[in-house]
Amino acid sequence: MAREQRDWYDTPLYYDIIFDADTAKEGAFLEGVWERYGTGKKGRVLEAACGSGRVMGEMLRRGWKADGFDLNERMLGHARERLKGETGWKVWRGDLAGFEVPKGRRYEVVHCLVSTFKYVLSEAEAVAALRRMGEALLPGGLVVLGLHLTDYGRKGCEHERWVEARDGVEVVCNTRTWPADRRTWSADRRTRLERVRARLKVTEGGVTREQETVWNFRTYDARQLRALVGAVPELERVGCFDFQYDLGAPRKLDDGYADVILVLRKVGAISCLN
Ligand SMILES: C[S@@+](CC[C@H](N)C(=O)[O-])C[C@H]1O[C@@H](n2cnc3c(N)ncnc32)[C@H](O)[C@@H]1O
Repeated sequence: MAREQRDWYDTPLYYDIIFDADTAKEGAFLEGVWERYGTGKKGRVLEAACGSGRVMGEMLRRGWKADGFDLNERMLGHARERLKGETGWKVWRGDLAGFEVPKGRRYEVVHCLVSTFKYVLSEAEAVAALRRMGEALLPGGLVVLGLHLTDYGRKGCEHERWVEARDGVEVVCNTRTWPADRRTWSADRRTRLERVRARLKVTEGGVTREQETVWNFRTYDARQLRALVGAVPELERVGCFDFQYDLGAPRKLDDGYADVILVLRKVGAISCLN
C-alpha cells in the first residue's frame, strides 16, 4: 500500500476521530480547574491552536463561550463547520508565537493541551507565546498547559498506537518519537528538537489508505518547563496534574512521569495586546 506524505492537520476529520475519545474529560477538567482555581462564574475560554474545534464544541455545550485560533486553514474550516448553528464562538487564523485576540476581549481560561505548545520551536518564541496567553487573560484568569515531557536518557523509540472509528471511518494511529541519543533523529539538549512521526491508516468504504507526517517538537524536561514558566512572572503556578485529567490526583512537577498539565494563574497586569 502506498503511503502518502501529508500534514495530518490537512485531514481534520481523521484527526478529530482519533483525538475525540478524551474530549469530554478535557472539558470537565478545564471547567473543574476554573471552579477550583478561578475567581467567579464560567465565562469565556480561548483555545490556543484549537484544531478541529472538538474541545471548543465541548466547552460551548457546557455553557462557556469559546474562541480559538489555529495555523491550519483546513482545521479552522472543520471547526467552523462543526460549530455553525452554535452561538458564542469565534475562530481565526493565528500563530502561537504571535497571536492576536479580538479587540478588548479577555478570557477566564486560555488552554493549550496535548503537547501542542511543543510546536513552538525556540525558547524566545515559547516565552513570547506563554506571555501572550497571560496577556489574553482577565485578572485571576488561568492558563492550562498540557505537554509530554522528554526523557533525555531514553534509549528506544517511544511508540503509541490507538484505534478509533466513527460513521464507518476507522483510523489507526501510530506515533513514534525518536530517542535522545540518536543525533539526527533526536531530542538533544542543545537543539531541544525531537523528531516525531504519525502514521494514520484510514479505512473508509472498504478502501484503506495510509498517510505519514514527520515533524519536530521542542523538548522539555521538568526543569526546562519550570524555567519557561519562571520567565513569565505574571503567571504563577497553582496546580499540576497529568493526562488522566483527574483533579483529585494532583502531581508534583518532576520527571517521574511524562504527561504534565500545568495550571498557571495571572497575578499581575500584563497588557501588550490590543
Ligand atoms: C495536536 S493538535 C491540537 C488541536 C486541538 N487543540 C485539540 O486539542 O484537538 C495541534 C494543532 O496545533 C496547530 N498548530 C501547530 N503549530 C501551530 C502554531 N505555531 N500556531 C498555531 N497553531 C499551530 C495545528 O494546526 C493543529 O491544529
